Formats: sequence, C-alpha cells, structure tokens
Amino acid sequence: MTVALDKPRSPRRPAARRSNFEMISWLFMRISGVALVVLVLGHLFIMNIVDGGVHRIDFAFVAGRWASPFWQIWDLSMLWLAEIHGGNGLRTVINDYARKDSTRFWLKIMLYVSMVVILLLGTYVIFTFDPNISAN
Ligand code: HEM
Repeated sequence: MTVALDKPRSPRRPAARRSNFEMISWLFMRISGVALVVLVLGHLFIMNIVDGGVHRIDFAFVAGRWASPFWQIWDLSMLWLAEIHGGNGLRTVINDYARKDSTRFWLKIMLYVSMVVILLLGTYVIFTFDPNISAN
C-alpha cells in the first residue's frame, strides 16, 4: 500500500531563489546588539561619567585616545556595528511601513548611500586623524 501526501498548499519559491540572507541578518542583529551593549555603554561611561565626564573632552583628549590602537579599534568596531545594525534595523522598518514599491526602493537607496558615506567618512577620520594639525 502506498501512502500519498497532499502537496503543501502554501506556495513555495523555487529552490534556486532561496537565500539565508534574512536569517543571517536576524542573527547579526542579536550578535551585534550584544557587542553594542559593551561598546556603547563603555563609551557612554568613559566619555560622560568618569573623571570629569564631558567637561574634559577637547582636541587633546581625542588626540590622546586615538594615539592608542585599542581605542581606534573600539571606535571603529562601534562605528561599523552601530551603522550596520542601525541601517539593517531601518531596512526592516522601511520594508514594514513603505506601501509603494517606489517609496520602498528610494528610501532604501537613501539609507544605503547614507550608510556607505558615514562608514567611509568615519573610518577615514579614525585612521588619518592628525594630532599635530595646525590651526591655520
Ligand atoms: C545597546 C545595544 C543594542 C542592543 C542590545 C540592540 C538590540 C537589537 C535587536 C535584538 C534588534 C532586533 C529586533 C527585532 O528583530 O525585532 C534591534 C533592532 C534595531 N536596532 Fe538595536 N540594539 C542596540 C543598539 C542599537 C543602536 C546603537 C542603534 C542605532 C544606531 C540601533 C538601532 C536599531 C534599529 C533601527 C532596529 C530596528 C527596529 C525595528 O525593527 O523595529 N540599535 N536592536
């Protein structure tokens, strides 16, 4: 005797078009979120609370911090993780709320362009910061 199962009623996409992108992006939001707790709360604590907080931040303070590869890597990780985490989060918000295809398309183009500009600019500043720059 053979037992035949009905085909599933929900439409299936062809296998070739399936990708793990949304699953990887879901996982990335959780992992980057955990890293951001440490990076962002550490940053807030150091910049705003300990040792005089925000009042001691000036050019010399920034120059002193970025002389150390540790803080360069801290700030670089925070920049990339927050930008990609925030950008990917906004991608979800746009997908959820934009009603027209064209609105969704252009909002996402603006988002991706702003992400690339901020990532490149921020990375450039961290690595090319010159503590001996003259005022004139
Ligand atoms: C402090 C550490 C953070 C943790 C633990 C965290 C965690 C998360 C998680 C787990 C999600 C996914 C929620 C979901 O899929 O429903 C999420 C979404 C999001 N996160 Fe964060 N996040 C943090 C920091 C940030 C920062 C610094 C930004 C901005 C740069 C940001 C912007 C967003 C946005 C825009 C979304 C999408 C919201 C939505 O889907 O409604 N998050 N966050």
